[in-house]
Amino acid sequence: MEIVAPLEIEDYVIQTAEFMSPARWHIGHTSWFFETLLQTYQPGYKIYSPDYLFYFNSYYEGFGARIERPKRGTRSRPTVRETVAYRRHVDEQMLRFLESVEDHEQADTILQLVRLGLEHEMQHQELLVYDIKHLLCDQFNAPIKAGPTSAAKVEGMAEIGGGLIWLGYGRGLGVTSSNAGEKLNSQLTNYSFAFDNEKPAHQVFLQDFAVDRALVSNGDYLEFMRADGYGDFRWWFSEGWEAVNREHWAAPLYWELHDGEWMIRDFAGLHSASSKANEPVSHVSFFEASAFAKWAGRRLPTEAEWEKTACLAAPPDQRRLFPWGDEPVELAKANLFENGLWTVSTIGAYPEGKNDFGCHQMIGDVWEWTTSDYVPYPGFKSEFDEYNDKWFVNQKVLRGGSFATPQIHVRSTYRNFFHAHERWMVSGFRCAKDL
Ligand SMILES: [Fe+2]
Repeated sequence: MEIVAPLEIEDYVIQTAEFMSPARWHIGHTSWFFETLLQTYQPGYKIYSPDYLFYFNSYYEGFGARIERPKRGTRSRPTVRETVAYRRHVDEQMLRFLESVEDHEQADTILQLVRLGLEHEMQHQELLVYDIKHLLCDQFNAPIKAGPTSAAKVEGMAEIGGGLIWLGYGRGLGVTSSNAGEKLNSQLTNYSFAFDNEKPAHQVFLQDFAVDRALVSNGDYLEFMRADGYGDFRWWFSEGWEAVNREHWAAPLYWELHDGEWMIRDFAGLHSASSKANEPVSHVSFFEASAFAKWAGRRLPTEAEWEKTACLAAPPDQRRLFPWGDEPVELAKANLFENGLWTVSTIGAYPEGKNDFGCHQMIGDVWEWTTSDYVPYPGFKSEFDEYNDKWFVNQKVLRGGSFATPQIHVRSTYRNFFHAHERWMVSGFRCAKDL
């Protein structure tokens, strides 16, 4: 509700593209998720409104009929006032329900679902930022805070040894190699949640590889554009080349050409791309990231390479929760939603967040594209129908969180996923190469 507070009433209801949702829908849908829990576990719970179940269900076949996604902005009812009242009602019911939940015979299951509901809400907080940006961009009165003023120089690639590694949430995370796999240590308490798609931890083999210490910057990307990157089929996947021609892509989303100069529009206004040359490029699709990498003689990392780099400590190669170690996320370590920047930071602005190999900003700023297909890990077991399991086709994995991700929502094992052509989310990348 704090995120949407600066919106005017008209801003809540319209849909500016098929892929975005109106703010009114997000604030109702996140309560709808909790209402389904009340329906199942609260004896005698009375549904607030069958119309709301229809309008606020996103894609869950198991919860009945629903409005098609592209039509969420074609209705003015329920109104914003009604939606806020619905939200208040569900919140009150949930609080009352939770007061006595420990006496419930399915208390453990319910508490797991409550946690899932909260994580789901955090996902929608981030989507709200994307959608408000698409709706209003610099017309939105975002409560922007100043970012760090100095930045470390970040150059070159880190060379990482391959071999068998543990990938995924659980085993070896936050524990020394001597007791790896036995239990998670006490520092993990705040990080005791992970989505089912991050599990189980399993072994994969990696060849030696090198990975960029810095995210690819707007300046790097401008060079690709000036070299006619968008005009040369050689760098593009066939489907990517089709997208370039069909969508007339000539730059990332939110870039505009003014009097021959590329400008970037964000929540803070319109600024020349060259003045933002040392910031990570964002709002690029997987196709654009891949084309840049090929042009640069590199490739994107796999998600296993990314995770090994993000969790790797200097020898003896302990596996850690975050690039900086096992300490929780804090403002000085990564640019996440709580930092309040509402945009990417300068490359090198968070030196406290780098790993032992000098890789900066793996957590925060931009979600990083990987070459990995979003598929279940070996041994995957769905913990909630239709949440993650039904999306295991035709999408790519992104890692690391963005400036719009809440701090307690991000993890090194977190697997985000989008289609290869999508770019309204805060997506960027770093390159890798074989050794
Ligand atoms: Fe949702």
